[in-house]
Amino acid sequence: MGNERILVTGGAGYIGSHTIVELLAVPGIEVVSVDNLSNSDPAVFGRIARICGREVRNHVIDLCDARALDRMFANEAPFSGVIHFAAFKSVPESMADPRKYYHNNINSLLNILETSVRNGVPKFIFSSSCSVYGNIERMPVSETTPLGRAESPYAHTKQVGERIVGEYARAHPALAAISLRYFNPVGAHASGQLGEDPINPPSSLVPVITRTAIGKMARVTVFGTDYPTRDGSCIRDYVHVSDIANAHVKALDRAARNGTGVEVFNLGTGTGVSVLEAIAAFEQVSGMRLPYELGQRRSGDVGAIWSDTTRSREALGWKAERDLLAMMGTAWAWERHRSEEK
Ligand code: NAD
Ligand code: WQD
Repeated sequence: MGNERILVTGGAGYIGSHTIVELLAVPGIEVVSVDNLSNSDPAVFGRIARICGREVRNHVIDLCDARALDRMFANEAPFSGVIHFAAFKSVPESMADPRKYYHNNINSLLNILETSVRNGVPKFIFSSSCSVYGNIERMPVSETTPLGRAESPYAHTKQVGERIVGEYARAHPALAAISLRYFNPVGAHASGQLGEDPINPPSSLVPVITRTAIGKMARVTVFGTDYPTRDGSCIRDYVHVSDIANAHVKALDRAARNGTGVEVFNLGTGTGVSVLEAIAAFEQVSGMRLPYELGQRRSGDVGAIWSDTTRSREALGWKAERDLLAMMGTAWAWERHRSEEK
C-alpha cells in the first residue's frame, strides 16, 4: 500500500484502537481518529503510542453533529479512506432504549457517509455484525444467506446501515464500500497493554470471564445448558480482535482494487466454540479454576452461529490466524495489566 491517510471513527473503542495499531504498522499509513469518548477512555491513545511509537490525533466530536464533522474535514482532509466503527453496540440496552440506538447509529452513519462523499473519499469500510443474520438454522452462515428478522434494534441498525452504505456506493460510483460482518471479537493486543476497556459494565462472555478471574465479579453464569449443541451450551465463532483489525487493512486494499460498488464479508474463524469450551480454554491458559454456575437461557440468544469463511479467504485474502488459547491468554494478560493500571 502506498501513502494513505485514514480516518478512523470510534478510534478509542475496542476494535478501533486495535485497528489503529495494525494500520500504523503499515509503512506510509497515517491515521486520524474521531471519537466522542461516549464508551471509551482517552488513555487508550497513550497505550497506542507506547505500542506503536507514534501519536494519533483524536477529535472529540459527536458524529451526529454534521457541522463539527465538516469543520474537522476542513482541517484534516483529504482522506484516502474512512473506517467507520463508531456506534453503540449493546443488544440489551438497544431493547430498553431503541431511540438511542437508531438515533446514534443511523445519524452518525449518514453524516460520515455524506461528508465522505462530499470530500471525495474513495474508500469506506463499515463495521457490521453477524447479528444481521438473525435467528437462522443453517450453519455455517455465508454472505449469501438471506438475512433473517433482526432480533434487536441494535441488529436492525446494522441491517439498515449496510443498506445505506450499499445505496451510497450505488449512487456515488467513485466510492468503493465494504461492510465487514464481525462474529464475536475477543482477546487483546499481544503486548497485554491494550484491550477492551468500555465505560459500560461488560455483559459479553470473555470480559465476564476475566473480570470474574480477577475477583471483580463473583462468578460466571452459563446462560443455558439445554440447547441442541454438543454440551448444551451456546456455540459462537470467537475471533481474535487483532485478526479482525488486520482484516481492515486488507479491506482498504480490496476496496482500492475493486474500485466501485459495495462488498460484504464475514469475519469469523469458521469454528464454533461452546460457552463451556470457552471456560475450559480460559482455565487452561490461566491455570485457574473459574467459579461458574449453570443457569437459565438468556432471552434473545441464538443456540449456535458460526461463519462460512470462503469469501473472506478468497476475495479479501484474509484468514484468522490466532486460536482460542491466544484469545483467552491475551484477554487475561490485558485484564491483569488493566487492574494494575487503574
Ligand atoms: P466500542 O464501544 O468499544 O467502540 C465504539 C467507539 O465509538 C467508542 O469509543 C465510542 O465512544 C465511539 N462512539 C460511539 N458513538 C459515537 C458518536 N456518535 N460519535 C463519535 N464517537 C462515537 O465498540 P467496539 O466493540 O469497538 O465496536 C466497534 C464497531 O464494531 C461498532 O460499530 C459495533 O457495532 C461493531 N461490532 C462490534 C462487535 C463486538 O462484539 N465488539 C461485534 C460486531 C460488530
Ligand atoms: C456469547 C455467548 C451467551 C455472558 C453479541 C451481540 C452480537 C455481536 C457480538 C455486536 C452466548 C454466553 C455470555 C455470560 C454466558 N456484537 N454468555 N454468560 O450474544 O453472541 O453476541 O456480541 O455486533 O450482535 O449480540 O456475545 O459475548 O454476550 O455471548 O453464558 O455471562 O456466551 O449466552 O452464548 P453474543 P456474548
